[in-house]
Amino acid sequence: MELPLGEVKMVKASVVDVDALSATKDSVLVMDFEGGTSAASWLNAKNKTLGDQLGHAVAEGDFTWKEGQVLVLYSKGILPVSRLIFAGLGKKSDFEINKVRVASAAVVNSVRQAGIKELAVRIESFSSLQEQGAWCTACLEGAMLAHHKYEVHKSIADPARLNHIILCAPGGSKELASSVQYATIVSSNTIKARDLINTGASDKPPKIIADHAKKVSGKNVKVTAFFKKDLQRMGAGGILAVNRGAAHEPCLLVVEYNPVKKPVSTVALVGKGIVFDAGGLDIKPASGMETMKVDMNGAAAVIHATCSAAELGLPIRVVGIAALTENLLGPEAYKPGDFVKTMSGKTVEILNTDAEGRMVLADALHYAKTFKPDYIVDIATLTGACWIALGSEAAGLFSNDKELQNLLVQAGEETYERVWPLPLFEEYGEYIKSDFADLKNVVSNSPSGGGAITAAKFLENWVDKTQKWAHLDIAGVDWMEAEKDYRPRGATGFGVRLLTRFLMNVARKL
Ligand code: BES
Ligand code: ZN
Ligand code: ZN
Repeated sequence: MELPLGEVKMVKASVVDVDALSATKDSVLVMDFEGGTSAASWLNAKNKTLGDQLGHAVAEGDFTWKEGQVLVLYSKGILPVSRLIFAGLGKKSDFEINKVRVASAAVVNSVRQAGIKELAVRIESFSSLQEQGAWCTACLEGAMLAHHKYEVHKSIADPARLNHIILCAPGGSKELASSVQYATIVSSNTIKARDLINTGASDKPPKIIADHAKKVSGKNVKVTAFFKKDLQRMGAGGILAVNRGAAHEPCLLVVEYNPVKKPVSTVALVGKGIVFDAGGLDIKPASGMETMKVDMNGAAAVIHATCSAAELGLPIRVVGIAALTENLLGPEAYKPGDFVKTMSGKTVEILNTDAEGRMVLADALHYAKTFKPDYIVDIATLTGACWIALGSEAAGLFSNDKELQNLLVQAGEETYERVWPLPLFEEYGEYIKSDFADLKNVVSNSPSGGGAITAAKFLENWVDKTQKWAHLDIAGVDWMEAEKDYRPRGATGFGVRLLTRFLMNVARKL
């Protein structure tokens, strides 16, 4: 069995030292704030020769450089390029870097049906190179992520036409090459994660995902897969319990990147990989089950963030650990009232089989200790409660360490995969104490409230007190019901960019 993944055709990106009008014969993109003064000074005399079409569009109120607005003009042979495209960034006073991502995505989405193959982007010269680099990265991410759609099951796919983006940065092209490389790596890994998450659950049993990880991981990455027999030997009672109603074997997958030089730091990333969450015997209603192939987003993010770290050649060791199984209702399925002994020896009274994520993570978090990591970050589509609390604009962040928390918040701001701190107050831990076992997997006198927090408190039991640990609850940010900017309908691949940026910042800190 093979994953039905199509070839990912990435938009190629490069950076050159010349003005955009000399970089291509196809199309030139200029972004600007409301008022368009920078674009106007660049256009200058060219504008007159074009008959001031831009001025007319503005005067008619058709184009006012608002966020997301796109205007395409045809140069009709007057200029050496076919099209001039303008994209609005909104008010300068409201600016933050994600608006560049949104603008370049708007351009790619609005010219999708046009024949544009090559796009030269005018990059403003900024006082700081760092600012210019962030601008380039955002511009490429927006375009690349908007460009790729999951279409492997369409008989007639919408052909991708854009194949090259040229960033035009007179004077600074050499320094920007690393921004181009970074954007290409994180975007291609996000796209691969999205495709894997969008794949139907019947097409991606754990073993097939393990094969996928072997296939995508390149140099300096070792992939180890533990299957049912291994897990029995290891005492992985949490994963095995959830797996009992499943059709396919579970897998604890370890994707380990070791840099060429001896690393001074180790980060473990732990991902929830429920290939399909039907809820188990506590079956979900149809409306809640519809998208549950997304329940392995955490695993996909961990695999592809580790691949990104390897492709970037970061000087730290990264161990990606994914706990993979279906949560179904086979005759052997684990049942409410059952007792489960996890790998650490701690026991759990099962009260709801739909709280399966924390059961598989309990074993994966315990296993992560093997690598003596400086940081452990787990990522999971864990609770509907987190979705209710934060909606779809931020993931929940829980951490026992301020510095780690800050690193993740910063990476969230840089990538716009934002995370928001929630508490791990001691009192919430009381909610999940069991009369019969060490813990129970849900609060029994529901509704109790604080479901995202009690889930995090549950996980905390499998992490040593002195271990720097953070938990990301990504239920809510994992899936788009409708296309928005650089996120097409379906899986967002949340976490690949966030975790990669986090790893890069950890490496920089050393
Ligand atoms: N995978 C779900 C959480 C989820 C919900 C992810 C919606 C994405 C969108 C998780 O396994 C689950 O079912 N959690 C239960 C926990 C409850 C039984 C304590 C939930 O949130 O209802
Ligand atoms: Zn569930
Ligand atoms: Zn789940």
